[in-house]
Amino acid sequence: MSSCLKCINCGSTYPLHEVVYTCRKCNDLLEVELDLQELEKKLEISGWKQRPLSVWKYREFLPVFDESKIISLNEGGTSLYRCANLGKRLGLRNLYVKNEGENPTGSFKDRGMTVGITKAMELDMKTVLCASTGNTSASLAAYAAKAGLQCVVLIPFEKIAYGKLAQAMIYGAKVVQIRGNFDQALEMVLKLSEGHGELYLLNSINPYRLEGQKSLAYELCDQLGEPPDRVVVPVGNAGNISAIWKGFTEFYKLGLIEKLPKMTGIQAEGAAPIVQAIKNGKEEIVPVDKPETVATAIRIGAPVSWKKAIKAIRESKGTAETVTDEEILEAQKMLARSEGLFVEPASASSIAGLKKLLEAGKIDEDEVVVCVTTGHGLKDPEIAIRISEKPSEVGAEIGSIEKLLGLRPLPLAVVSR
Ligand code: F0G
Repeated sequence: MSSCLKCINCGSTYPLHEVVYTCRKCNDLLEVELDLQELEKKLEISGWKQRPLSVWKYREFLPVFDESKIISLNEGGTSLYRCANLGKRLGLRNLYVKNEGENPTGSFKDRGMTVGITKAMELDMKTVLCASTGNTSASLAAYAAKAGLQCVVLIPFEKIAYGKLAQAMIYGAKVVQIRGNFDQALEMVLKLSEGHGELYLLNSINPYRLEGQKSLAYELCDQLGEPPDRVVVPVGNAGNISAIWKGFTEFYKLGLIEKLPKMTGIQAEGAAPIVQAIKNGKEEIVPVDKPETVATAIRIGAPVSWKKAIKAIRESKGTAETVTDEEILEAQKMLARSEGLFVEPASASSIAGLKKLLEAGKIDEDEVVVCVTTGHGLKDPEIAIRISEKPSEVGAEIGSIEKLLGLRPLPLAVVSR
């Protein structure tokens, strides 16, 4: 069978050149099913292993037909940092951070957007649309600009970090702030794209987004030489953890890796329907009506890809945990101060979750763990300033600075030189 879109519930299939977001029969989520035999043949002659690390290193794994349509800003190929200082503090020998803030618009969303926008070009769409807590809108706006497409983004009023708002605006998107939360915005874009065929929806319900995002798993295998024991991922709308798991399972099915990591999802306490379902052994989530967290990126009560995420966590024998706002902000500071990595609060939830699971003895000190930090710290400078010590303010004289730093006064001859 050639590659197609397949419903995760009833198995209905759709061709890759059709605009379809959810199953027309049962309304469940779709995913790209690759023809692995065909892929294997392509891989044999492609020389893909020699290409430099990036999303498009893995172009044979991506459902794109016309390479001349690729819209790229050089996404992927992000650093995998060995974090010995932080590992020591947390009691873990092998801790790594995959720093997705290094992507062109500062978040992992770019991995998905390069594929999603390329698909929009293949499908000859003229306008793209998304709801967002911030990063998706920044990323979509940038890729739409590069592709010359119109872009509409719906964001929750006053609940997105300033850096992200600035990005969507400067890239020229039509920015619509709704007096409501992300879940409401998502509901509206789903209806809008359903009723107005000219609007191409690029939220992660669109399976092509996840195809790009799965490249993170491939990169981890390439960077480490094998998969880690565990991958810890912040979870909001639940696309990313699902995508990363898909990437690992594809490499596994192709015999490129011999084991699979445990997928570990972290949500903020005030927005944790997936963690609750995992902890309570439930098949379905109970959406959170009024999600709240300082990590606005993951302030989501009804994650669209919950079913895929729960499957990823259970199939991989992983786990899920909640973290409080306080724990998130403490982890953000700790990562910055022990490793020199500045990430946004949602990203730091992976570190906070790791800490909590280590303390509870649910993660072993010998495991090789990768925490995914999903977005750059400069996205949300207000929070960083709020949680750090205030800068000192002194007059422009050497003496005042010496006093402040507890230094002996310099001899007058030196000061007046
Ligand atoms: N971390 C950051 C920085 C994010 O922006 C998001 C999601 C997540 C984690 C969670 O990823 O949704 O795939 O589970 N941000 C979306 C947005 C919702 O609109 O930018 P997920």
